[in-house]
Amino acid sequence: MNKVLSIILAAGQGTRMKSDKVKVLHHVGGRPMVHYAVDNVAGFSSGTVVIIGRQGDLVRESLKGKANLKFIEQEQQLGTGHAVMQAREEIAGHDGPVLVLYGDTPLLREETLRELINVHQEKKAACTVLTTMLIDPTGYGRIIRDEADYIEKIVEERDASVEEKKIMEINSGVCCFDSNLLLEALANLDNKNAQGEYYLTDTIAYLNEQGEKVFPYLIDDFNEIIGINDRTHLARAERILRSRINEKHMENGVTIIDPATTYIDSEVEIGQDTIIYPFTYIEGKTIIGRNSIIGPHCRIRDSEIGEAVNILDHSIIFESKIGAKSNVGPFAHIRPGCLLEVEAKAGSFVELKNSTVGKGSKIPHLSYVGDAVIGQDTNIGAGTIFANYDGEKKYQTQVGDKVFIGSNTTLVSPVKIGDGGKTGAGSVVTKDVPEGTTVVGVPARKFDRKER
Ligand code: UD1
Ligand code: CA
Repeated sequence: MNKVLSIILAAGQGTRMKSDKVKVLHHVGGRPMVHYAVDNVAGFSSGTVVIIGRQGDLVRESLKGKANLKFIEQEQQLGTGHAVMQAREEIAGHDGPVLVLYGDTPLLREETLRELINVHQEKKAACTVLTTMLIDPTGYGRIIRDEADYIEKIVEERDASVEEKKIMEINSGVCCFDSNLLLEALANLDNKNAQGEYYLTDTIAYLNEQGEKVFPYLIDDFNEIIGINDRTHLARAERILRSRINEKHMENGVTIIDPATTYIDSEVEIGQDTIIYPFTYIEGKTIIGRNSIIGPHCRIRDSEIGEAVNILDHSIIFESKIGAKSNVGPFAHIRPGCLLEVEAKAGSFVELKNSTVGKGSKIPHLSYVGDAVIGQDTNIGAGTIFANYDGEKKYQTQVGDKVFIGSNTTLVSPVKIGDGGKTGAGSVVTKDVPEGTTVVGVPARKFDRKER
């Protein structure tokens, strides 16, 4: 494939979204929709231009870190043709195909774009347009073919005659142009149409007038070209993307009991033989190992779950790491910054924040553990509270290996429980507990048998 210059149009107002946020930053599959366009072209483009307008700074910020991007501002949104004109210099400096696509079509596949460019090059076309057939083509530009089945022109809905409106083949908005011919066609655009805009689609009629060939590349999967204009489209795209993602995981050997109620973001990775129960959300950059069981009714975001982990009903895990063979839930809340090492447990109604739970250690029931480091093979009794906050500051608690914390203990941080230490039920620990020592009472003191 020759080097391709990609131009992504993302300057539109997105009025129909009725939103304070620019359309291309609305999320689909857990990512802003403009990211799909940028990522789809990254593999084959020598350079990518993103045309920005409304909230351009936010779009720029959202795409920070992506390679080979150039942002150009379209100050006034005078139409798709006008948007492409903003990249005039880049087009002039490029010898090879120019791919134009929109920031609001997140369901397009990279393979489709690659095929479009291949067809364009094989046919030596002036322009190749990605098209599809729609039972209800309302709102889209219609493809007018000539006798030889090339595209003669594209007519926008608002400018179409009654006859033209009956045409079911529509313009996806994705076109591949010869760079020199695109420049020439752009220079000849006008805005004499129903919307008073410079339409990119008018370049097609111009190229025909010059005796050039415009080739339609017709695809069957009309879902790919859904352009998101309003919130109904957004929900539809979300549903389609979700089922695509679920299918990919099922192909890879993941069991999804009910794909209709399983919500997995596009960047999630899941190992073979893991089972996902219904009503589960797996979001962001989450990685789940093999042979794990998740759900039902769980939510996991930006976390790493090891192999053979069991996450029971109604558990929430954010920005944390759960080691292999660990058990979480039911009703556990693992807040950001937690690490459960292998074979650890955070059981029913346990809340964990910014804490490490060592190998084989267990917090089986009804506890709050915040800012703690817990060693190995330690047991934290039911109802234990790590009082990490004195109203002004937060402090750390350290609990050693093979410690036994009695039910209903309060550990007032900062405090340290040495290896093998024990606390009696209901004790309030305010001072460090040395290794192998048992403390009881309020405030907790060294356990003395004579007192009993
Ligand atoms: C456009 C096409 C139509 C096609 C449809 C497919 C034109 C004239 N019409 O219509 O043939 O069937 O897409 O979805 O091209 N944009 C800018 N600057 C502007 C105007 C638009 O950057 O001045 C961007 C928008 O942000 C959007 C894209 O271009 O990402 C398409 O604009 P939109 O207004 O949604 O075009 P449609 O009316 O959907
Ligand atoms: Ca659109």
